[in-house]
Amino acid sequence: MTKYFITGGAGFIGSHLTDSLINKGRVAIYDNLSSGSKEFIARHFKKDNFRFIKGDLLDEKFLNKSMAGSDFVFHLAANPDIQLSVKKPSLDFEQGNVATFNVLEAMRKNSISKICFSSSSAVFGEPKIMPTPEDYGPLLPISTYGASKLACEGLISAYCHIYGFQAWMFRFANVIGPRLTHGAIHDFIKKLGKNKKTLEVLGDGNQSKSYIHVKDCIEGMIFGASRAGQQLNIFNLGANDRTKVKDIAQALLKEMGLDQTKIIFTGGKRGWQGDVPQMLLDISRMGKLGWQPKYNSMEAVIKTIKENI
Ligand SMILES: NC(=O)c1ccc[n+]([C@@H]2O[C@H](COP(=O)([O-])OP(=O)(O)OC[C@H]3O[C@@H](n4cnc5c(N)ncnc54)[C@H](O)[C@@H]3O)[C@@H](O)[C@H]2O)c1
Repeated sequence: MTKYFITGGAGFIGSHLTDSLINKGRVAIYDNLSSGSKEFIARHFKKDNFRFIKGDLLDEKFLNKSMAGSDFVFHLAANPDIQLSVKKPSLDFEQGNVATFNVLEAMRKNSISKICFSSSSAVFGEPKIMPTPEDYGPLLPISTYGASKLACEGLISAYCHIYGFQAWMFRFANVIGPRLTHGAIHDFIKKLGKNKKTLEVLGDGNQSKSYIHVKDCIEGMIFGASRAGQQLNIFNLGANDRTKVKDIAQALLKEMGLDQTKIIFTGGKRGWQGDVPQMLLDISRMGKLGWQPKYNSMEAVIKTIKENI
């Protein structure tokens, strides 16, 4: 029985991953609950094959001790919000680079060699080719979040080469679904909870990105990690198409029955510093492996709206 260790397992994506891995082996979640929630994983607390450890990845000693006896690490914990790090750039360095280094060191000291990492489309920056394939370069991120993800990929690659680790790195598009903790749909619902007369949308609304439902994301990750056997495996995970932010806002108002709400755009081609306004990943590498997302971007958006309102 595989013993999985999930960093960030109490978060949005991590809790869905837990729902799936709990049927395949033993699961230990390591999370400081900075953006995650115990509620997301409450259904597993009484299970014999489940363990929750409240801990911070910056606490090296406790992390080393907690990881002992595990076989496979899913490393998802990070600062997930690009907007937050614009105000505090050290966030991505500490919660991304340093935390990932600590995870890799804890693995090395505990003789664990398999890691699956949640990277991001943000590593590509503003690519000239779209859909963007995994081997696109040069990789020039435009946010400290993207820079941190790229640095983490580099560190993981080095540990594969030097210490014989095997890694699966997934560059996610925008992941959405139940238990959202951040992102456009989450923000819109929060804003409408406070004021139904107007809905402020950051940017001109023409930002157009690929959205993947969290169910597809988890299935893709597990599929990729079980089928791809290279020492270092890198995959894009997204939908085959994209959708505009203004269409998401309109779909949300329609689903909520708010036909009087006025959408106000703050203007400009990006929502905030570091926002990549156009993003579409080439997912043919996962396709060749035999995986396809079930939902396209708009289907994932509508499903997510229904799941969160
Ligand atoms: N959601 C997306 O659209 C998206 C897209 C690309 C990549 N990702 C990546 O996927 C991963 C999961 O994202 P998410 O959307 O589920 O975010 P999330 O905030 O819901 O989950 C992150 C989890 O990590 C925990 N955490 C953060 N710092 C920690 C630390 N120092 N020690 C221990 N736990 C810590 C948080 O409490 C939280 O439970 C992140 O690495 C994120 O960068 C997410």
